[in-house]
Amino acid sequence: MSTTMNIHSSEIRTKYLEFFKTKSHAIIPSAPLVPENDPSVLFNTAGMQPLVPYLLGEPHPMGKRIVDVQKCVRTGDIDDVGDNRHLTFFEMLGNWSLGDYFKEESIAWSYEFLTSPEWLGIDKNMLTVTVFEGNADAPRDEESAVIWRSLGMPDDRISYLPAEDNWWAAGPTGPCGPDTEIFYYVGNGEPHGNCATNPDDWMEIWNNVFMQFDRQEGGALKPLPSQCVDTGMGLERVTATLNGFKHVFDTDIFVPYLAKIRELTGDKYDDRGARIIADHTRTAVHMIADGVVPKNVAQGYILRRLLRRAIREFVRMGVTGTVLGQLAEMVIETFADVYPTVAVNREKILDEIRREEEKFGKTLVDGTREFEKIVRGMKEAEAKTGQSITRISGQKAFTLFDTYGFPVEMTEEIAKEYGMTVDRADFDEKFKAHQELSRTASAGMFKGGLADQSDQTTALHSACHLMLAGLRKVLGTHVAQAGSNITEERLRFDFTHPEKMTPEQIAAVENYVNGAIQSGLKVVVAEEAKSAAQSRGVSGSFWEKYPDVVKVYKMSGSDGTVYSEELCGGPHVEDSAKMGTFKIAKEESSSSGVRRIKAVLE
Ligand code: ALA
Repeated sequence: MSTTMNIHSSEIRTKYLEFFKTKSHAIIPSAPLVPENDPSVLFNTAGMQPLVPYLLGEPHPMGKRIVDVQKCVRTGDIDDVGDNRHLTFFEMLGNWSLGDYFKEESIAWSYEFLTSPEWLGIDKNMLTVTVFEGNADAPRDEESAVIWRSLGMPDDRISYLPAEDNWWAAGPTGPCGPDTEIFYYVGNGEPHGNCATNPDDWMEIWNNVFMQFDRQEGGALKPLPSQCVDTGMGLERVTATLNGFKHVFDTDIFVPYLAKIRELTGDKYDDRGARIIADHTRTAVHMIADGVVPKNVAQGYILRRLLRRAIREFVRMGVTGTVLGQLAEMVIETFADVYPTVAVNREKILDEIRREEEKFGKTLVDGTREFEKIVRGMKEAEAKTGQSITRISGQKAFTLFDTYGFPVEMTEEIAKEYGMTVDRADFDEKFKAHQELSRTASAGMFKGGLADQSDQTTALHSACHLMLAGLRKVLGTHVAQAGSNITEERLRFDFTHPEKMTPEQIAAVENYVNGAIQSGLKVVVAEEAKSAAQSRGVSGSFWEKYPDVVKVYKMSGSDGTVYSEELCGGPHVEDSAKMGTFKIAKEESSSSGVRRIKAVLE
């Protein structure tokens, strides 16, 4: 008889960590969602991602056996969330051997954790496994099959599958290798068949990757300095499967949110909308906790898209006003003990969500009306011409974005509801032209010692440029940046100068900055040859770290006066009118020959 159990997601999470602790693994905290040293991806998409340097051979400070629960975000399927299986945020349980144990222990421990009555106690009859069938890169993985057999896995429950199924890599280059995957029976009646004969009856719950290679540009495989193990088990999916649910949304992880949404929406409740809200709120909370704020670029854009999509679903179900916060509070509560950044940033999370709700809530109704107007116009044109017109022009989609704050993906989604499409290439062109026209720094990636990407931080960052220019003007061109740190509240800036500044000098620098702010400041970014920028006297530190072509941010008044030109990666303000008044709060010694200023915008 097939059996299911009744186990809470938090129990699985805790047991997993505890089990591997008994196998001498060090428990490490989840890395932040935004990769710290890898600009090639916006978010961590697998537990192994933050560990890549260690898989490649760098010694890990916690040793060779590591276990964790990693927060992950996959954004490829945002538009699919709402069906019964896609999620944008998930937690991945993982254990690693960094050049320590290999197949033997890895497989034995996975099996022990799953089936031992002391741990999950799964009926062995509910499990089947797959191993790599072999190709030109690596041989058939008989070794894993032999280990599985020795543990009692019946022969007909071990399937050999091709690289498509049993070879794992995070991307086109980097650590990779064959894997063995463990599946749980989700079909009807007695468990039968295996992954080759009855693939739909078996759900993958755990993947053990035997990392042996580092794939190079061009595809060649270079052996890793030592063999590693990378395993991954998705918490949401394993919770659903073990509890006998077909869908993650039926588990303890989602049921409370769905119930809350039902309470808020009453008879307008619909499953799809509720799932979107629940999933997106979870993702948004963790993103903000890890330093992302709503923006029109990069991670911030994804966050904005998720929040706006959730807001729209609430509106569709008849709820307006700031309600997302109630869901966010539940998410915070649930994760406070698991991921400390969620609890620490509680106020900030609620604040950002409320702000986005207020901002978008105002334009959503007007934008929806505008959208309907566009559709009516198209229908009229259709009637007149007798031609079917279903494609919304890029210009119209751009207006919805620019004036009403509709992310283009949202316009596409609404269009789909009307049986229409958006001319995306045309939109992209308009969007690009707009960016180039305003040439603001907003497209620049987030860099330069900033603690976050809020508007306030960005404004202080711009003020920092103006201040450096002011200091050089007032004190002399020996002044160079020696360090900087910017938070939402203040900027801290270290610079080379041999003596204390006088009150007059401080006032002169403040005047310079405020004069610039009041001049209708325009910020323009341009690329230029590093050597040319350097010889023109553009400010900058660490020139040697920059490539041959550099970005120079120029800030000038509406009368053409140039206030600052500096090497930088952005971002900067678009509208200086919002900067406020610059004030130097403190000037003090930092170290010999280096002064430190703390300054604010009021
Ligand atoms: N890195 C492997 C995965 O994500 C374990 O499936």
